Amino acid sequence: MALFTGVVYAAMGARFVFPEIKHGTKSSFASHWLMRARSSTTLPPELPTRGTMVDQFQELDPAAFRSALAQFPSGVTIVTTRSEAGTLHGFTASSFAALSLDPPLILVCLDRGADCFPVFMAAKHFVVNIVTDAHADLALKFATKGENKFADGNFELDEAGNPLLPDAAAVISCELEQAVPGGDHVILIGRVRDARTGAGKPVTWYRGGFLPLGERAA
Ligand SMILES: Cc1cc2nc3c(=O)[nH]c(=O)nc-3n(C[C@H](O)[C@H](O)[C@H](O)COP(=O)(O)O)c2cc1C
Repeated sequence: MALFTGVVYAAMGARFVFPEIKHGTKSSFASHWLMRARSSTTLPPELPTRGTMVDQFQELDPAAFRSALAQFPSGVTIVTTRSEAGTLHGFTASSFAALSLDPPLILVCLDRGADCFPVFMAAKHFVVNIVTDAHADLALKFATKGENKFADGNFELDEAGNPLLPDAAAVISCELEQAVPGGDHVILIGRVRDARTGAGKPVTWYRGGFLPLGERAA
């Protein structure tokens, strides 16, 4: 089940902030194609017309959707928090993404059906731990309902009492800025308060399995 769910999440994350793209500007490449499109009066014959592509969208096959999402490799994170009562909670997430550099914001999508959902909704802080090859089993544990996820003592507590993984590839501590509805998920937007980089190489998730980064990514 965790693997199946992970296939869906493989494409939900990994959106990157490209600092060179500024609002209100278009690259010359984009302008070129925009002008070409405007000056064109007839559609090239190979483009689909209404009744083909449109109908396909109306009859979206959920399996095709999942399969398309699985074509998108992502990183893997374990997102953690502490409840007001002091209990520790977390879930594996591949939907993590950078959102803004100034102010420093990140996002991660949380399933409304997750057991930890109410705790994250009420949380003031959460931590995104970007995991390495060495954390594959731990990431699967955090993707499994009902597990005693913190039993193995892999985590330390930060100053605010939130669990962080000391040997993670990176640890990003956030204040919960906003929780935005998104279908059956909620987008947790975090304002980054602390960011640390570790020595380990991050692992990727692709087509329902872990995929170590190649040597060239070192
Ligand atoms: C690789 C992988 C990535 C996942 N990504 C997400 C995600 O981005 N958001 C999410 O809500 N669940 C994601 N899941 C599923 C959750 O980790 C899983 O449902 C978890 O058990 C939810 O927490 P709970 O035990 O509190 O219900 C992912 C699972 C895997 C294996």
